[in-house]
Parts: sequence; structure tokens; C-alpha cells
Amino acid sequence: MKNIVILISGRGSNMEALIAARDAGDLPVNIAAVISNRPDAKGLETAARAGIATRCLDHKAYAGRVAFDAALAECIDGFAPDLVVLAGFMRILSEGFVRRYDGRLVNIHPSLLPSFPGLHTHQRALDEGVRIHGCTVHFVTPALDHGPVIVQAAVPVLDDDTEDSLTARVLAQEHRVYPLAVRWFAEGRLRLEDGRVRLDAPTLADAVLVAPRLA
Ligand code: GRF
Repeated sequence: MKNIVILISGRGSNMEALIAARDAGDLPVNIAAVISNRPDAKGLETAARAGIATRCLDHKAYAGRVAFDAALAECIDGFAPDLVVLAGFMRILSEGFVRRYDGRLVNIHPSLLPSFPGLHTHQRALDEGVRIHGCTVHFVTPALDHGPVIVQAAVPVLDDDTEDSLTARVLAQEHRVYPLAVRWFAEGRLRLEDGRVRLDAPTLADAVLVAPRLA
């Protein structure tokens, strides 16, 4: 069974979705550890309650990004993960760190990339008046919120949406697609090849993830 390490900075609801999928038998992975860069991350308690090893490396205690990333990599490597899963990890990672985990580092972003990289994606989607919004799971490259797309889920944007209602609709889809993408990796079906995503034996259900159901 493949080992994964999950990196968080806060609430950890995507991490919880991964734990729930594992517990339901839908995600054949060993969650070796959950690591946070913030001591007050609520997700650390959730992970500990689930019996998962937790670590906190407070980025403020390090001289700079490179020093923090080196310590983080050492901590991660202690758990020998096959895949490192960024789940609301709010740190820009150095190029050296990203290259070290080439093809083994995934992220979830709350927009249909390449639209709306960065922060405040839901408000920006509302401000632009887009009719379709969503989330993206992607392999990480050194550019922020960029990289080969593994899976996306789309939701409608409604006339009376607020930032909160749109956030909730997208988050529900995040909790659906992240466990799915990690499962593909765990099953050995998903890999990065020459900068392209390869998924073996995709079914129509894997390929079509438009989610028009309203939350
Ligand atoms: C999610 O919307 C994720 O896409 C983004 O940060 C948020 C983290 O939420 N990168 P949570 O900590 O998983 O609840």
C-alpha cells in the first residue's frame, strides 16, 4: 500500500475527506503523517484524533524559505511517502522543494485553473461574472497554482450566489475529487510523464466530473 503525507495550514477539511475515504475503504493508502506549518491548524487535532502522526514546523522559526523547505523535506522524507498531498497548505514552495518531489506532489486549488490562481478565487469568479467555476487537482510545478491538471470539477455560478454560497458549492466538489485523484495514484494508474498527466484505463465516470447538482 502506498504511503502518503498530507500538508495543511488550517481547517483541514480536504484532509478529513481523505481520511473519510480511507476509512470507507475507497482510498487504499497509509496516511503516514499530517504536517502543518501553523501550530494552531485545527486539522492537526482532527488528524491526531484519527490516530495519524502529526508534526508541526512553524515557518516563523526558520531564517527563510529555503531553510524552512529543507526542514520540511527532511520531516516529510522521514515518513517515506510515495505522494505528498497539499491540502490547504498556504505556503509558496521553493523550486528546489518542488523539484525534489517531481511527480509526487499534488495540490488542490479552488478554481478551474488556469483561471484564478492565487487567493480569493470565489469572490474573483463572482466579480468576473463567470457562469462556471470549480476546483482543480494538479501536479505541482514551481509556478504558483500551476501544473499538469489531474481532475477538475465544475459547478454553476448562480445569480444570487454570495462568496459563502459559492465557496460551499466548490468545497463539496473538492471533497469529492481529491480522494478520487489520490486513489488513482494509489492504484498505480496516475503518473506524470514528460510533464503530461497519464491516467491508465480511464472510464467515462473518471473523465466527466461536471457537477451540476446544487449544494
Ligand atoms: C481549500 O479550498 C483548498 O482548495 C485551498 O484551501 C482550502 C483549504 O481548505 N487550497 P481545508 O483546509 O482543506 O478545509
